[in-house]
Amino acid sequence: MILVTGGAGFIGSHTCVELLDAGYEIAIIDNFSNSRPDVLDKIRTITGKDFKFYEADLLDRDKVELIFKENKIDSVIHFAGFKAVGESVSIPLKYYHNNITSTLILCETMAKYGCKKIVFSSSATVYGDPATVPIKEDFPLSTTNPYGATKHMIERILTDLYVSDNEWSIALLRYFNPIGAHESGLIGENPNGIPNNLVPYIARVAVGTLDVLNVFGDDYNTHDGTGVRDYIHVVDLSKGHVKAVEKVSKSTGVEAYNLGTGTGYSVLDVVKAYEKASGKKINYKITDRRPGDIAMCYADPAKSLNELGWKAEFDLERMCKDSWNFTVKNS
Ligand code: WQD
Repeated sequence: MILVTGGAGFIGSHTCVELLDAGYEIAIIDNFSNSRPDVLDKIRTITGKDFKFYEADLLDRDKVELIFKENKIDSVIHFAGFKAVGESVSIPLKYYHNNITSTLILCETMAKYGCKKIVFSSSATVYGDPATVPIKEDFPLSTTNPYGATKHMIERILTDLYVSDNEWSIALLRYFNPIGAHESGLIGENPNGIPNNLVPYIARVAVGTLDVLNVFGDDYNTHDGTGVRDYIHVVDLSKGHVKAVEKVSKSTGVEAYNLGTGTGYSVLDVVKAYEKASGKKINYKITDRRPGDIAMCYADPAKSLNELGWKAEFDLERMCKDSWNFTVKNS
């Protein structure tokens, strides 16, 4: 059985669909701090399969231990954690306590029950502002906000755990910019309040709940002056997790993997693609840069192909089409 922490979240729920479709037995732990209970039944509807669910916080050691007492957990995919960059700057202690302490409790409990295989939800944010692109896994790591620092610290914690006990098998998955939604339109990205990220914001402009997109700067050293990122379909990303589970089940060690397409698109490229996918005009205005943003960030995904046998399949058009389909069905 695979335990999925944060399995009701955006990437977690899509990964649970792929795991169930691949024939895995799963259990989900989620406290709904950034997700909704109705996602669980949507996962069941999409896959036609059931799974165990524990509504609990990873900070509750007794609840976490109960899961390992009641089930034979072979490996863990660890998504649960706070992930808003801006919020992490304003409440750093909450981010460090929640993200780090919960991971320590999870790993201590895993070790106690002899479960030493984990796939960790990391982020390209650990690369900071890279000197060059595309980015390889051996690039230097640096972070500029508490959220990114928690990802970097957890990578370090897991690396030290392997050094202390070579029986561990650990995959650190560094996501680039996950967007899109399952083709059914039943699950997707539906952040509470005003979206921080580009595509959910564009989706709200396209559907009319927000008036205009603020483009954070058009004076970057990129092909059209706006920020370039490696957008990856959330279903491609989720399939990468299934491959990582297969990898950690077969070998020990600790390895980082970029989960990106290897192609960078600018903000205005995405606006154009979304207009084509939705048939809607996206009103936008150029505003000041957002503090902390970098000009360009996209992956060299070769290691993931070579070692996980994984490659992203969906293009930007499909990402926007699936995002729009979900938005229309859930607005
Ligand atoms: C993308 C581009 C913005 C919103 C963040 C986190 C990262 C990861 C993914 C968790 C940038 C521009 C955005 C808007 C805009 N999250 N933009 N107007 O910043 O690359 O990455 O989400 O792991 O850790 O840092 O994603 O979608 O916020 O921005 O112009 O209203 O869109 O400047 O160039 P980002 P994003």
